[in-house]
Amino acid sequence: MTREPRDWEAYYRKTRDRPPRPTLLDALDRFAAPGFAVDLGCGEGRDTIELLRRGWHVLAIDQELAAIEGLRARPDLPKAGRLETEVAAFEDAIWPKVDLVNASFTLFFCRDGGFPALWRKIVASLRPGGPFAGQLLGEHDSWAGRADVVIHDAAALDRLIAGLEPEMRRVEETDAVTPRGEAKHWHLHHLVLRKPA
Ligand SMILES: C[S@@+](CC[C@H](N)C(=O)[O-])C[C@H]1O[C@@H](n2cnc3c(N)ncnc32)[C@H](O)[C@@H]1O
Repeated sequence: MTREPRDWEAYYRKTRDRPPRPTLLDALDRFAAPGFAVDLGCGEGRDTIELLRRGWHVLAIDQELAAIEGLRARPDLPKAGRLETEVAAFEDAIWPKVDLVNASFTLFFCRDGGFPALWRKIVASLRPGGPFAGQLLGEHDSWAGRADVVIHDAAALDRLIAGLEPEMRRVEETDAVTPRGEAKHWHLHHLVLRKPA
């Protein structure tokens, strides 16, 4: 099956004013003070903006130059916090130890069998006690079967997150239209997982 090109700029135009993801807010509410986070597949930064607003130091990574340029040009970019950005695939990016890994609606785009290594890198980069926040796709998702999408059924998810402490593991199945106008059945695992202290 071939990889279909994705028009991320259309997605950014539609979603740039949307609020931060509930998974990020859930993870952030567990911190008494700001720390250092990596935001993988940050897009135009709906989550990065919230992290900065709360005084976090954020390394925002996205493969799309348009995402990073859009983030840096946002009129609502907070003065608080500290922003670093990198245009890179998260499979290739190297980042230091962090207090939080945020990856909203993005890891399932991991390329070419790279997910296991990416997940090991994510877990290794978390400081003890630090959470991962983000989404993975389940087997009922209408993108299941596409060569360019990573799917985790419940058993695969159990194996993946063994060794982490689930603070949120919520399944959502819903029929919707994507910001780019595609009718879609979502089967989402919303995850906040803490690396044991
Ligand atoms: C659905 S958007 C999500 C953006 C943002 N995190 C949010 O929650 O709205 C997915 C983002 O992941 C980025 N992305 C997809 N595959 C990637 C990869 N392999 N490495 C880095 N970024 C990637 C895309 O460029 C896009 O900005």
